[in-house]
Amino acid sequence: MSELTWVEISSNALRNNIARLRSLIGSKTLLCACVKANAYGHGLCESARIFVEAGADWLSVHALHEARRLRKSGLTCPIYILGPLSPDDFPEALKLDCRLVVYNEADLARIARAARTCGVPARLHVKIETGTNRQGIGSEKLEILCRAIVDSPDLLLEGLATHFANIEDTTDHSFAQAQLDRLHAARDQLAALDIRAPIVHCANSAATILFPESHFQMVRTGIAAYGMWPSNETYVSFVKERKEGFILKPALTWKSRIAQVKDVPSGEYIGYGCSFKTGHATRLAVIPVGYYEGYDRGITGGHVLIHGRRAPIRGRICMNLMMAEVTDIGDVRVGDEVVLLGHDGDECISAEQIARWSSTINYEVTTRINDRIPRIIVD
Ligand SMILES: Cc1ncc(COP(=O)(O)O)c(C=O)c1O
Repeated sequence: MSELTWVEISSNALRNNIARLRSLIGSKTLLCACVKANAYGHGLCESARIFVEAGADWLSVHALHEARRLRKSGLTCPIYILGPLSPDDFPEALKLDCRLVVYNEADLARIARAARTCGVPARLHVKIETGTNRQGIGSEKLEILCRAIVDSPDLLLEGLATHFANIEDTTDHSFAQAQLDRLHAARDQLAALDIRAPIVHCANSAATILFPESHFQMVRTGIAAYGMWPSNETYVSFVKERKEGFILKPALTWKSRIAQVKDVPSGEYIGYGCSFKTGHATRLAVIPVGYYEGYDRGITGGHVLIHGRRAPIRGRICMNLMMAEVTDIGDVRVGDEVVLLGHDGDECISAEQIARWSSTINYEVTTRINDRIPRIIVD
């Protein structure tokens, strides 16, 4: 292969994760795989196709360009656009047969106009404000919005949705429970007016794993479908509550090749800012991956894997390069494989470990891997 850095995706791992999620939610609940942000860095169309073949019923994306690419790749399943759209984009989204989120009257009027012009009904999911204060309509305006949808021949009320604010970051799920209660209240408020939506949904991965009562008619799972736990807290809560195992398998391995091997005497600085000084004669591998490729510049004290062994990163991560010490690794040559994330022999660097090095979360580690780096499906 001519690439100097690439990402390998295990289709078996993705399939297994979908099967595990299916076993949690049963056959009657729709499984909506969240493939926004280039499928959490795993490659949008490749991952989406595998998810659908493995039994995902719906796909969710953030933006229209993602839905456009999925349709162009031949996927015909329902696509739900989670994010806001520019008013100019409503007609295309409807022609692509996308489901849209709505939470205000101004957007609703524009969507209705677009639906009338295009001659296709808009299938809408009303986002309820339950405490995240991101998207979402409050209970005082809910009736007016939903009434406008059900009274319009161009609009269909397909879903009622909300999103949890504080479910991954804690083992105290009282806030999530309060949000769930508010979703129930919104549904009851509408039912009293004889307004019903066939698909209620709120569960992200953590809720899917921890709270069967949050599954309703559909779950929207992202991170777990890629084989990662939403957080340590989610894992701890799961282990505390249940006895049986729930195994997720990370699907992503990020690799590169050594571009240069360099011997540096003791007492030399390495890289920008002279932040690292060698304390002994040091052999370095220069690796063509830097912060442009998505490896966080803030990382200090990290490792990469070379010949199945941990090679400590030396000096600052550059824009397109990094240096790792291979003094003790033996016969290291230009062209040898480097694993930045994933397994090499018995060693593994997980997205969670990289996240700890750079004070972030596994979600950010994989989604930050530059989209231009090829994603290659293996196994
Ligand atoms: C609205 C919405 N639903 C579902 C998800 C999936 O969340 P997770 O990856 O934790 O499963 C996200 C992800 O950010 C989201 O924004």
